[in-house]
Amino acid sequence: MKKYCFILCCLTVFSFFFSCHTKNTNPTFSEDIAPLIYTHCTSCHRPNQIGHFNLLTYQDIKKNANKIAYVVSHHMMPPWKADPNYSHFIGENILTEDEISLINTWVKLNCPIGDSLHIPTLPNLPPGSMLGIPDLHIPVKTIAIESNYNDRFLLVKVPYELPQDTFIRAVEFMPGNSNVVHHVNGDMVRFDFDKKKNVYDGDLVSDMKLDSTIKLAYQKIGILQDDGSYPILAKSVVNYLPGVIAQQYPDGIGGWKANKKNAFLLADLHFGPSSEKVWDSSYINIFYAKEIPKRPLQEFQMGTLGVSPIVPALIIPPNKISKYTTDFMVPNDISILTINPHMHLLGKSFLAYALTPQQDTIRLIHIPQWDFNWQNFYTFPKMVKIPKGSNIHVEGLFDNTSSNIYNPNNPPKEVRDNLGSMRTTDEMFQFIITYLPYQEGDENISLERK
Ligand code: HEC
Repeated sequence: MKKYCFILCCLTVFSFFFSCHTKNTNPTFSEDIAPLIYTHCTSCHRPNQIGHFNLLTYQDIKKNANKIAYVVSHHMMPPWKADPNYSHFIGENILTEDEISLINTWVKLNCPIGDSLHIPTLPNLPPGSMLGIPDLHIPVKTIAIESNYNDRFLLVKVPYELPQDTFIRAVEFMPGNSNVVHHVNGDMVRFDFDKKKNVYDGDLVSDMKLDSTIKLAYQKIGILQDDGSYPILAKSVVNYLPGVIAQQYPDGIGGWKANKKNAFLLADLHFGPSSEKVWDSSYINIFYAKEIPKRPLQEFQMGTLGVSPIVPALIIPPNKISKYTTDFMVPNDISILTINPHMHLLGKSFLAYALTPQQDTIRLIHIPQWDFNWQNFYTFPKMVKIPKGSNIHVEGLFDNTSSNIYNPNNPPKEVRDNLGSMRTTDEMFQFIITYLPYQEGDENISLERK
């Protein structure tokens, strides 16, 4: 009996040791791979999302297995550019090295399915949204993109009518054709109804190349009020860049009052070039707030067009990697919710932190390999307090050599920021901070999406 116990003990210890210290050499789709793909990939790779093809069924995933192994091994997918050893954000999406090697082993074994009865159910993702089921779905005018057209920058009015005046918690832009929609920066129009009889008058679209001034463009799409005055705009209510999930904060934080009848103004809807004629039917999802927004968001930007100058001026010489910095002294205690680093094609790396008057460093973000295609609005899991008198320091490296495969010039030539020009061949160096005036206890408020 004693001997039997001893063997049993050894076996238990051995199997424990074995399970901890060896890799899973027989991964199957149902046990190992489906849970990974459903967690890390499916939110974008499903119908009407930005991922161009589906990763839903065993067949979808097997068909793309070699590509999947390639993109995960090269850390191209899932697209998460912020260094997780520096700071953390909501929605962080990273595969561990063990998970990557599991995927590689599975592909080498020719994608065994395992017990098909145990394939987990698909994640319950809302169709047509990354946030949930919207209260209102507003179509943006369908726009034709001609073949071989260069970049197009449009100003687009999106009128809407709600059942009543209300409060809005989140506004989500969903691209119709994510191959061509590059980015959106949009405001909410606040007409003075004594001065604007019909919010729906005017065209819906102005091409910024043809309507030479903002005033002409506003006139054309009926944004000016009847007496020629400008309406108030709530800025940056709706933004989109590939990979960006619209901000959605806890009730009472952020949000906007919306009149029953009004409009969004996509102040900048940028379409990239296309090799064939395509159509874009994008739309906007609205999520109502349960509570009156008590703490409206505030924003400032550093660098290009911002509160702090770039040092030295952003004139990037060819055939060199150059470093630029920008510094801003915070005049009051603030609580940071979300940050958005922004550079164009020459960007190489991005670093931002705050240094308190006591010389403590508060890490904000490090992007070791800048990728123009994946720019995010990064929201902290909890608000980050930056005490009054702290210096926010931002550093960007720009690679204007021919080894930068994204360099728009061959051979490289001098590139500079051009009054905030969004053209991808002009550069920008910007850090946008969404914050609230600090209140006691802010650092304990979770910003996680529920
Ligand atoms: C945030 C959205 C998003 C997530 C999450 C995401 N993808 Fe993608 N994926 C895209 C987009 C958009 C493209 C096309 C643009 C590009 O190639 O950068 C793409 C392209 C790809 C490609 C095609 C590359 C090519 O050139 O043919 C593969 C393969 C791929 N993804 C696999 C994955 C896998 C595997 C995961 C999870 C581990 C994943 N993706 C997660 C959005 C996403």
